[in-house]
Parts: sequence; structure tokens; C-alpha cells
Amino acid sequence: MVRMSPNSHGASGTGGVPGMSGRVALVTGAASGIGRAAARVFARDGARVVVADLQRAAAEGQETVRLIQEAGGTGMFVPTDVARVPDVEALVGATIAAYGRLDYALNNAGVCGTPTGVVGCSRAQWDEIIAINLTGTWLCLKHEIPEMVKSGGGAIVNTASGAGLLGVAGMPAYVASKHGIIGLTKSAALEFASQKIRVNAICPGTTWTPMMETLIEGSVEMENMLRAASPYGRMARPEEVAEAAVWLCSGAASFVNGVALPVDAGRVAG
Ligand SMILES: NC(=O)c1ccc[n+]([C@@H]2O[C@H](COP(=O)([O-])OP(=O)(O)OC[C@H]3O[C@@H](n4cnc5c(N)ncnc54)[C@H](O)[C@@H]3O)[C@@H](O)[C@H]2O)c1
Repeated sequence: MVRMSPNSHGASGTGGVPGMSGRVALVTGAASGIGRAAARVFARDGARVVVADLQRAAAEGQETVRLIQEAGGTGMFVPTDVARVPDVEALVGATIAAYGRLDYALNNAGVCGTPTGVVGCSRAQWDEIIAINLTGTWLCLKHEIPEMVKSGGGAIVNTASGAGLLGVAGMPAYVASKHGIIGLTKSAALEFASQKIRVNAICPGTTWTPMMETLIEGSVEMENMLRAASPYGRMARPEEVAEAAVWLCSGAASFVNGVALPVDAGRVAG
């Protein structure tokens, strides 16, 4: 009988035991919403967590760290604009300086902008969304992957969206950026598979976060419409999306590579 040895495409699994113990996770956009929830789940599962977000969100980023520490975990905040090359370089540098390695990354920072339509979208609006969502994700991969190669492997998840799988009228830059993240994910997954680095994407459905609250702007009508569009008749909680992202990083997902996983109650199944 051929015995298969566990590989390092992620740690030794989750399932209630601290399977990420001794490992290091980096989460961008971790001052809020899905990113904060994922930072807390990584810490619960034993990883030391680097909480990255904009300088202007430093108080909220520090609050994520406080929540991690309150639960017995380890984390630190690193102010980062993912659209800026020096910031992303410094983020990965600070991670290695503090914790000596990088095993998992959730490249999650993103903005949705306001609905503009294709014709109404200004060049500045287009550039901002592409720079943060798509270029920011690529910059993170570019600087994270070499550190994972050095330590023999790792696992990365990029936050795309249901809008990375289906079109949404009125949000051209956001939809293009999220479709782009999925293509980027697949390319990176194939390129680094032989170096034991898995790269996957999650495609959240509508999730109740500050981003969604801003988009809805208090419109009960829009909120009800979004709930009704979900097969479950409700939005996701950030924790439900976070669990899927952390599972994809874990050793429990060791043979999962290059997928764009919907976490949406079945919304894109129909
Ligand atoms: N909420 C949803 O319904 C939903 C659905 C699908 C996909 N998503 C995606 O999930 C991710 C997280 O969104 P969320 O709903 O938690 O939103 P959120 O607004 O609660 O959190 C996003 C975080 O990203 C940070 N951020 C923005 N620009 C940044 C930059 N340039 N550099 C670093 N950080 C930056 C923000 O400060 C914020 O803390 C985004 O990529 C979003 O597109 C969200």
C-alpha cells in the first residue's frame, strides 16, 4: 500500500482543534466586516494574525486585534493601503519581522463604489476600484508568494464576489474587478501548485457588513430586495463567509486549488 504523507498546502486542518497553531495569517481589510471576522477565525484556529487595513481605519484595526487578544490569540495591526506598492512591501516585511513566516493570506480589502453604469462611470471612479480590488489583490500575491515559497508552501484566498461570477447592471468597475480577481486566482493557482501554494477565491453573496449598509443607505426597500434575492431569504453573516475562507486555507482543503467558491446560500446556482 502506498502511504500518502501530509503536505504543506495549508496546515493540519481545523475542526475545533487549533490546527493552525504556529502558523501566521495575513488578512487585508481586516478592520471591518468579512476581514475582521476572518481574522478572528484564523486566531481561534491557532494562527498569529496580521490585521491590515487603511491608516484611517487604524482604530477599527486595533479593535480587531483587541478582540483577537481578548479571545486568547495573537495579532498585530499594520496600516496598509493595498493599492500602494510600498505599503504592501512593508506589510509583508512587517509580518516576517514580527512572526518570521507567512502561511496564509486572505486578500480581502475592497470597495464597491456607488452605482454608476458603464457610461456614467468616470475614469477616476474606474481607476480607484480597479486599483484597490484588482491591482491590490495582485500586489498582495506578488509580495506574499515569495515568502510562502521560502517556507515550503502556503495557502491564499482572494475575496471575489458573486459579482465575479455574474454581471450586475450598474456596477461595471466592481464587476470587472471581481471577475478579474477570479482569473488572477486561477492563474496563480496553476503557476504555484508545484511549489505547494494553493490559491483560491471566495465569492460571497450579499453579506451584512458596513459596506452593505453604506450601499443600502437605509433603504428598507433595497434591503428587502436583497434579502428576497437570496435562496435563504437573508444576508450572510460575516462569520459565515469567514469560516469558508479559513477552511480553504486549512489543510482540510489540501486538494482544493484554483476554485472560486460561492458562499451565497445557492444564489448563483440558479
Ligand atoms: N458585503 C458583501 O455583501 C460582499 C459581497 C461580496 C463580496 N464582498 C467583498 O468582501 C470584501 C470585504 O467587504 P466587506 O463587506 O467586509 O466590507 P467592509 O467595508 O466592511 O470592509 C472592507 C475593508 O477594506 C478596507 N479597505 C478599503 N480600501 C482599502 C485599501 N485600499 N487598502 C486596505 N484596506 C482597504 C476598508 O477600510 C474596510 O475595513 C470586499 O472585497 C468586498 O468586495 C462583500
